[in-house]
Parts: sequence; C-alpha cells; structure tokens
Amino acid sequence: MVGTQVWLYTLLGISVLVEAKKNPEVHVTTCLISGNCVLPCRFQPSARDIISWYRQEVLLLSSSNHSSQLQHGERVSLFEEKVASGNASLLLNHCTFQDRGKYRCHVNSTVTNQESFVLLRVEAPMQFLSLKIAQPEIQQLNCSSQGIYPAPHLQWSTEPPLPLQALRPITRMAADRSGLYSVRSSLTMVGSSANYTYICTVNASYGTQTWKASLRKKEDMTGTVGQALTIPCFAPRDMTNFTLTWTFMRDQQPSTILTYSSGTKEMNNDWSHQARVDKTQARSGNGSLRLWNLMNQENAGTYTCTFSATQSTHTVLTSISIISTAKATSYARIWIITLVVIALFLLGIALLVYAKQKGVFYSWRLMSEPADHSEAGGTTQMQTMETEQATASADPDNSQP
Ligand SMILES: *[C@@H]1O[C@H](CO)[C@@H](O)[C@H](O)[C@H]1NC(C)=O
Ligand SMILES: *[C@@H]1O[C@H](CO)[C@@H](O)[C@H](O)[C@H]1NC(C)=O
Ligand SMILES: *[C@@H]1O[C@H](CO)[C@@H](O)[C@H](O)[C@H]1NC(C)=O
Ligand SMILES: *[C@@H]1O[C@H](CO)[C@@H](O)[C@H](O)[C@H]1NC(C)=O
Ligand SMILES: *[C@@H]1O[C@H](CO)[C@@H](O)[C@H](O)[C@H]1NC(C)=O
Ligand SMILES: *[C@@H]1O[C@H](CO)[C@@H](O)[C@H](O)[C@H]1NC(C)=O
Ligand SMILES: *[C@@H]1O[C@H](CO)[C@@H](O)[C@H](O)[C@H]1NC(C)=O
Ligand SMILES: *[C@@H]1O[C@H](CO)[C@@H](O)[C@H](O)[C@H]1NC(C)=O
Repeated sequence: MVGTQVWLYTLLGISVLVEAKKNPEVHVTTCLISGNCVLPCRFQPSARDIISWYRQEVLLLSSSNHSSQLQHGERVSLFEEKVASGNASLLLNHCTFQDRGKYRCHVNSTVTNQESFVLLRVEAPMQFLSLKIAQPEIQQLNCSSQGIYPAPHLQWSTEPPLPLQALRPITRMAADRSGLYSVRSSLTMVGSSANYTYICTVNASYGTQTWKASLRKKEDMTGTVGQALTIPCFAPRDMTNFTLTWTFMRDQQPSTILTYSSGTKEMNNDWSHQARVDKTQARSGNGSLRLWNLMNQENAGTYTCTFSATQSTHTVLTSISIISTAKATSYARIWIITLVVIALFLLGIALLVYAKQKGVFYSWRLMSEPADHSEAGGTTQMQTMETEQATASADPDNSQP
C-alpha cells in the first residue's frame, strides 16, 4: 500500500514538472538600444530561494539567498529590495544588439522550482527625419534618417497625388557595423513643382512608428522697396500642436526670423522691426509672414516656413525678389516720355495732312514769302507748326479765304 502511494506521488510530481515544462511563461520585451532594460520575472517567495538567470542557456547571474551579495556581471543585476516580495526581474544596463535572445529565469526554492522565459528584442527608434532640397539647380529633394533598428520602410507621395512612376525616387538603405540602419532617398521634383507638396513617410519599429516630412516650393514672389509683402504659409490641417519657425536664407547664410509655439503661445521675433506673424492667426495654423519696409537686396532671398510636431514636419519655401521704386519710376518716366513724343509726332503728321487738304499751308507760304530769308529755314519750320496748330484749333470755316 505504502509502495503504491509513493509510486503515485512520484507520478504526480513528474506530471507537475512536465506541466511546468510544457507551458512556461514567455514574455516578449522590447528594449531601446543603449538604454537600461528590465526583464520581468515573478515567483512565489519562500524562505530560501535561489534565483538564476540564463541567456541562451548560459548562466548570467545567480543569487544564493535574498541578503547575499550577487555574483553578477558588470551589466546585470537584480532589484535586491524587490526579491523578497517575489520580483526577480533582471536589470540589464546599456542594452546592445548582442543582448537579443531568449532568457530563462529559474527560482530554486524549498517549495518548488519555478521558471519563466523572456524573449528580448532590441530596437533603435527613429530620432529624426530630414527632408530638404539638396540641389536647387536640378530641384533634387533628399529625405533621410539614420541609426534605426529594425530596418525602416520609406515611401514618397505628393499632394495632389502624382503616380509613383512620375516621381521615380532612388532609395538606399544600409546597415553600419553595429547593425543600425540608415535610409536615404532622393527624387527630382517634377516641372511645375510649385503646385505639389512632396511627402516622405517612414515606418519604423515594425510599423509602430510613422514619421512624416513634407515640403512645398511655392511660386516666387516679388516685393517693392519701401512696400509691404505677405508670404503665405499654412499648417497641414491635421497638425494642431506645433512649433512654427521662419528662416531666411541669402548667399547660403541662414538666419532665424521668428519662432512660435502653439503649446506655450510664445513668440520669439528676431525681426520685430520688419516682420510679424499674427498670433491669433498662427494659433489656428495660419503662419503667414508679414514683411514691411522692404529693402533692396537685404530682403531678397529664400523664406522658409516650418511647422514641426512630434514625428512630423511641414516646410514651405518661397523665393522673394525685390525691385526698387527708383527703378520702377525711371522705367515709368521713360515710358511717359516715349508716349508723349509719339503722340506729338502723330499729331504733327495729322495736322500737316489736314492743312495740305485745306490749302492753308500753301496760302500761308505765299503770304510769308517776301519776309522769308534764306538762312532762317529752321525758324520758318517752327512758325509753320505753330500756325498750323492755331489754324487747327480755330474754326476751319472761318479760316477759309
Ligand atoms: C544566505 O545568506 C547568509 C548571510 O547573508 C549566508 O550566511 C548564507 O550562507 C547564504 N546562503 C546560501 C545558500 O548561500
Ligand atoms: C520588479 O521591480 C522592478 C523595479 O522596481 C519593476 O520595474 C518591475 O516592473 C517589477 N516587476 C514585476 C513583474 O513586478
Ligand atoms: C536546487 O537547490 C538544491 C540545493 O540548494 C540543489 O541540490 C538542486 O540541484 C537545485 N535544483 C535545481 C533544479 O537547480
Ligand atoms: C542626396 O541624395 C543623393 C542620392 O541619394 C546623394 O548623392 C546626395 O549626396 C544627397 N545630398 C545631400 C545634400 O544629402
Ligand atoms: C506605415 O504603416 C501604416 C500603418 O501600419 C501604413 O498604413 C502605411 O502604409 C505604412 N507606410 C509605409 C511607408 O510602410
Ligand atoms: C498651379 O495652380 C494654379 C492655381 O492654384 C494654376 O493657376 C496653375 O495653372 C497651376 N500650374 C500648373 C503648372 O499646373
Ligand atoms: C504638444 O507637443 C509638445 C512637444 O512636441 C508636447 O510636449 C505637448 O505635451 C503637446 N501638447 C499637447 C496638448 O498635445
Ligand atoms: C492669414 O494671416 C494673415 C495675417 O498674418 C492675413 O492677412 C490673412 O488674411 C490670413 N489668411 C487666412 C486665409 O486666414
């Protein structure tokens, strides 16, 4: 009888062990590269627990009991003050790609053996996405990011939509020695770039992260010296929490005009003598820049408006050229003088024709013949003109002989 009982208990014990082996707890944990990482493990505490952590079945750390010093490597440790309450989580400092893999947490207590597994993933999340005009001469756009794991996915689109065949982007992806990916894609803006917004979208971290950068190059604008000009710029409709930045670029020298934050509603204006953005308008996404008292070449250049939000930016570039009023008036003066001269010339011809028809000119010539001296030809011509005009303005019927 006793023998059967022992036999039964042994069988039960084996089946419990098999059960535990069949359904071990598996956690999937994602840690950031270079970050500190916690691999979870919970157990039922008892008087004498021995905690062991293995990575790919190689012992990393083992604790004999709660108060003992742990024999651990330089980067792994337990939360010693938590062990007594059944928390045997492992702290892994300065995570690297080599830390990826399957971990086992084993607790050997007086009651029972407990174990659980952790599958560790290491990620390098995207930190930035840059979209800019790399070569203005050929209207080339570059979209890029780096230091990413796992491999990201990049896509281009336009607003309004253009077929992908029309964009023909060239995308290159590469991993560096530590396994981090960089992605770089370039395309040439289609002819009438002013009407399209170019959008570069990158998915990272297994599609859980999406970054978006858009750019639009607006039609060039012209201002006049001494006058005012408004450069339009609007936030994308879905962007409500943003920072607006206006910059000015001239001879490759960028400078900040102003910044505005929709969160704090604060504006820093470095060009307050000459430029402003209406705060109330800006809050609702109208970042249009008002410039006044324009100066000849000082204000000519590229004005860039950027709306930045978390994982999203929108940039609008506008080239401004300035014409001087002096030039404008001198052009106007030349035109007026030319028109007056043409008008006078036509009037003269008209009067000549009229006078010839009526015979006035001929009779006047006859009358003035005796007083005419040979060397006074020019004067006579002038007088002729004057007389014609006088005649023309008088009643034609009365002037008839
Ligand atoms: C547990 O810790 C105590 C004192 O900290 C020590 O004397 C004892 O040997 C430890 N037990 C084991 C199994 O290492
Ligand atoms: C164990 O303790 C650590 C440190 O306080 C904590 O971060 C972790 O969430 C705890 N784990 C569990 C499973 O309670
Ligand atoms: C549990 O610990 C005891 C001694 O403390 C040891 O004899 C036994 O082999 C351990 N079991 C496992 C599965 O590590
Ligand atoms: C833009 O991308 C092209 C091709 O990917 C590359 O050759 C060029 O150096 C890049 N320019 C900049 C400014 O990053
Ligand atoms: C990014 O992920 C979203 C949602 O999963 C998807 O709609 C979109 O097409 C993806 N874009 C890219 C570039 O993979
Ligand atoms: C660009 O759009 C404007 C109106 O927004 C239109 O008048 C113009 O014809 C368009 N240009 C091209 C090249 O499509
Ligand atoms: C707006 O964005 C900033 C950072 O980009 C963030 O700190 C803030 O909490 C956001 N505010 C709201 C209302 O979403
Ligand atoms: C945008 O704001 C400017 C003033 O900064 C204003 O002149 C313009 O009318 C506004 N545009 C719209 C569409 O509200």
